[in-house]
Amino acid sequence: MKRELMEQLEGYADVTAEIENSLKSGTDFNEHEGEVFRYVNAIHPSLVELKVAEIIEETHVTKTLRLKPVEGILPPFQAGQYIALHVDTGKIKTSRPYSISSSPTEKSYWDITVQRVEQGLVSNFLLDEITPGNRLFSSGPQGVFCYNPLIHDDTIVCLAGGSGVTPFLSMIRNTIARGLNQKIILLYGAKEIRDAIFFEVLSELSVVNENIDFFPVFENPPEGFKGPSGYLTADIITRLAGNLKDRTLFVCGPQAMYDFILEQLSTLNVPGRKIRREMYGAPAQPWNCEGWPSEISGDETVTIRVNGEKSFTSRSGISLMNAMENNGLLVPAVCRSGECSMCRVKLLEGKVFQPKGTLLRKSDRMFGFIHSCVSYPLTDLEIRT
Ligand SMILES: Cc1cc2nc3c(=O)[nH]c(=O)nc-3n(C[C@H](O)[C@H](O)[C@H](O)COP(=O)(O)OP(=O)(O)OC[C@H]3O[C@@H](n4cnc5c(N)ncnc54)[C@H](O)[C@@H]3O)c2cc1C
Ligand code: FES
Repeated sequence: MKRELMEQLEGYADVTAEIENSLKSGTDFNEHEGEVFRYVNAIHPSLVELKVAEIIEETHVTKTLRLKPVEGILPPFQAGQYIALHVDTGKIKTSRPYSISSSPTEKSYWDITVQRVEQGLVSNFLLDEITPGNRLFSSGPQGVFCYNPLIHDDTIVCLAGGSGVTPFLSMIRNTIARGLNQKIILLYGAKEIRDAIFFEVLSELSVVNENIDFFPVFENPPEGFKGPSGYLTADIITRLAGNLKDRTLFVCGPQAMYDFILEQLSTLNVPGRKIRREMYGAPAQPWNCEGWPSEISGDETVTIRVNGEKSFTSRSGISLMNAMENNGLLVPAVCRSGECSMCRVKLLEGKVFQPKGTLLRKSDRMFGFIHSCVSYPLTDLEIRT
């Protein structure tokens, strides 16, 4: 920038005066080395040690773990964010992301609400093995699935399925606790009433707060239920949420729900920029994804060589990250959905499948880096971590 322009910047004179003073007094900035990092780390720690303070039974397959810091205070978060919880199941060291369901105004704990996944490694471990008093490590809060008043409409329509309701409870609690001038309309698709997580708390909050609307939509509604039933179709969405013009939509739920809802919203001509969707992990059946080569079944045995040292075999349908964890190699991971790029590795040789929409930086593409959490080995591979 030209000097004349710089001089017009607010604070320019103060900064130059400060630099001159420091030079005269001989201040050595190296003395302060690490100070900024200490502040940043307090707000954005890479690792937080937590203890399970309480476990709350939510539904027949869901529990909330109330997590408190072992030391100090919890870093702040925005409603809608998640943490990556690290676990050692005895068989494997791994991590999984879980949205925080408590309010950011609740400073002393984070709630995460875990739903059992059939054959799921971590959800079953958390629900069956973890008891109050146990300690766990997590990442700091992550993610951008958050309401931003500068960008989003005052009224937001939230479409949830299954455990995808968790970030919305945090958003609703935050809006109420802070008295925000914001309307939230939550449509929650669940199979039956016994599957609807937070059904009672959401019903109560919507009764006493006129800016919160809660509409459960059951596939099999209980007797006497007056609301619509079935899936969250375009018709049901507009019937419950009204005209979607001037509304931002937030969608969170299992993969099958995204495919269905995004199609419904396209029939309503909702522009893509009005739709915010949370990620929900890597595809469990990549061989069903668009672009997966038809000659590969997902069962082929592949050999993976890491850093020129360790070699092991895996299957083409298992993500590179899972394959490495199965063989005792930990890769830094946060989202496990192909978005945060923490799990980047360099592909030196071989071919991987990466589902459509995987977010790779241009520089990663240029220099052969891949996200191991959403990369599936189609051939033998050689990688560098
Ligand atoms: C941003 C975000 C927020 C989330 N928030 C929540 C939440 O609030 N509540 C909630 O309940 N869930 C949440 N999830 C989902 C959660 O992270 C887990 O995916 C879920 O708990 C299932 O984990 P699991 O270990 O039980 O299942 P997994 O064991 O991961 O099973 C899923 C599939 O992954 C494959 N797989 C996994 N590990 C291996 C392995 N080592 N080798 C071979 N194959 C493997 C298997 O094919 C299996 O079918 C969130 C996900 C994301 C991305
Ligand atoms: S862990 Fe986030 S991109 Fe792989």
